[in-house]
Amino acid sequence: MAKIYDFGFLIILGVTVSANKTYNLGQQTTLGPLWTFTDCLDILRQGYTANCVYTIYPSTLWRPFQVYCDQTTAGGGWTVIQRRQDGSDKNSSRPWIDYAYGFGSLRGESWLGNEFIHRLTSTVPNKLRFELQDFENDYRVAQYGRFYVGPESDLYRSKIAFFSGNVTNSLPEHNNQQFSTFDNGPSSTCEHQYKGGFWFCACHSVNINGIYLKGKHDSYADGVN
Ligand SMILES: *[C@@H]1O[C@H](CO)[C@@H](O)[C@H](O)[C@H]1NC(C)=O
Ligand SMILES: *[C@@H]1O[C@H](CO)[C@@H](O)[C@H](O)[C@H]1NC(C)=O
Ligand SMILES: *[C@@H]1O[C@H](CO)[C@@H](O)[C@H](O)[C@H]1NC(C)=O
Repeated sequence: MAKIYDFGFLIILGVTVSANKTYNLGQQTTLGPLWTFTDCLDILRQGYTANCVYTIYPSTLWRPFQVYCDQTTAGGGWTVIQRRQDGSDKNSSRPWIDYAYGFGSLRGESWLGNEFIHRLTSTVPNKLRFELQDFENDYRVAQYGRFYVGPESDLYRSKIAFFSGNVTNSLPEHNNQQFSTFDNGPSSTCEHQYKGGFWFCACHSVNINGIYLKGKHDSYADGVN
């Protein structure tokens, strides 16, 4: 079966599971006269159904920040944490600080940033969803019922579990791993072979932040392979 890293188009969504959460509509905060949202699901429940960039304030312990909300896929309420769609971001050797605070444009190829993902996943339980599409329009999904990213002091350690979907589950080996880039993290010494940053385990397996696979898929689509 196809694997996550066989795909050219990749969108990772994290959603808040908050059946038990109490929403304060139009909650006012100490920040001033702002109508604030805690996350994309909160925004959806307050009636904002457009896919676009919103400012969220997941925790009063930290500052507000901007995210792109996908309010249509699988019920909506998803925060886009990574998007790779056209290979425009060619830089596969970014340092720790780039992965920590994000890069790219929220509307285009981007990585939200481990610090923001940590803040988002710390307050309530979250899911993780991969939306995958290749250049022949083969569309597949991988979803994980549990997703948490720890603090920087633990090198943004991942918790990724409870898989469902129609792609090979290639993430178990990324569960409970610390994040690595070439300049930090436990796999920094071997990361150069795989490019990009990720929750590596023993220098191998899936690397969704690595080199964009367009060339490979172009040749496949051309029948050269
Ligand atoms: C709310 O949470 C409690 C405890 O975590 C659980 O027992 C209950 O079933 C939940 N209710 C809903 C509607 O999910
Ligand atoms: C990649 O990004 C890093 C940090 O933003 C920068 O220092 C480096 O020059 C970039 N490399 C390329 C090839 O653009
Ligand atoms: C994979 O699952 C998604 C979501 O259920 C579905 O839309 C898609 O058609 C499936 N892909 C294949 C190749 O079966």
